Amino acid sequence: MTSEDKKRWIKSIVIACTIFLLLSLYLFIRRGYYDLYIINKVFGSSAVILAGITLLIGPLRQFSFGVSLMTIRRHLGLLAFGFAIVHILASLYQSNRFIWFSWYLNEWIPVSAGFFAIALLAYMTYISRNKKIQELGPDVWKNRLSIAGKLSFLAIFLHLTIMKYQGWIRWFNGEVKQSQELANPTYPPASLFVFFLMLTVIIFRIVHWFTHKGKVKSNP
Ligand code: HEM
Repeated sequence: MTSEDKKRWIKSIVIACTIFLLLSLYLFIRRGYYDLYIINKVFGSSAVILAGITLLIGPLRQFSFGVSLMTIRRHLGLLAFGFAIVHILASLYQSNRFIWFSWYLNEWIPVSAGFFAIALLAYMTYISRNKKIQELGPDVWKNRLSIAGKLSFLAIFLHLTIMKYQGWIRWFNGEVKQSQELANPTYPPASLFVFFLMLTVIIFRIVHWFTHKGKVKSNP
C-alpha cells in the first residue's frame, strides 16, 4: 500500500467513524440505551450514508471538495460494504428480535431487496481491484460500477421503506409513546433521516441525469 493510499484510507475511516458516532449518539439519546439492536441499526444506516456519499461524489466533482472526495470514493464504497455485512450478520444473529423463518418470511420483500443489494455491493467490491479494471477496460468497468451502485441503492431504499414506513406513520400520528425501549418518543426515528437522505440522493441523481444528458461523461 502506498503512503497516498494509506492517507486515503485514514480519511475514509475518519468519515465513516464520524457518521457511526453521530448516529450512535442520536439513537442513544432517543432510545436511552445502547446495545446490539441499536448497533445493528447504526451499521445499516452508516452503510447507506456512505453509499449515498459515493453516489453524490461523481456529480459534485465540479466543486473543489468533490474533487478531493473523488480520490476516496472506492474506499468509502468498500467501507459501506463492510458495514452492510456487519449489519446483516447482526440481524441474523438477533434471533430473539427477528425470529428466524416467521419474521423473515413475513418480510420477504425487504429481505430479498437486502440480499439483492448486498450481492451487488459484493460484485462492486470484486471488480474494484486494479486487475479487474485492466481486464474489463476503463469504460466497461465504470459502466458496471455505475449501474450496480445505482441498482443497489434503489434496492436498499426499498428495503428500508417497506420495513419502516408503518413505524414512521405511527410516529407522525403521535402514536409512539414513551417506554422502557424509548426514552424520547418526540425525536424522529433515525431511519426517517436516512429515508430523506436517500430520497435527496435519488432526486439529485435524476435531476443531474436530465440536466447532463448527452454531455461527455468522464466518471459515473
Ligand atoms: C440480506 C440482507 C439484509 C438483511 C437480512 C437485513 C436485515 C435488516 C433488519 C432485520 C432490519 C430491521 C432492524 C430494526 O428494526 O432495528 C433492517 C433495517 C435496516 N437495514 Fe437491513 N438487512 C439487509 C441488508 C441491508 C443492506 C445491504 C443495507 C445497507 C447497505 C441495509 C440497511 C438497513 C437500514 C438503514 C435499516 C434501518 C435501520 C433502522 O431501523 O434505523 N440492510 N435490516
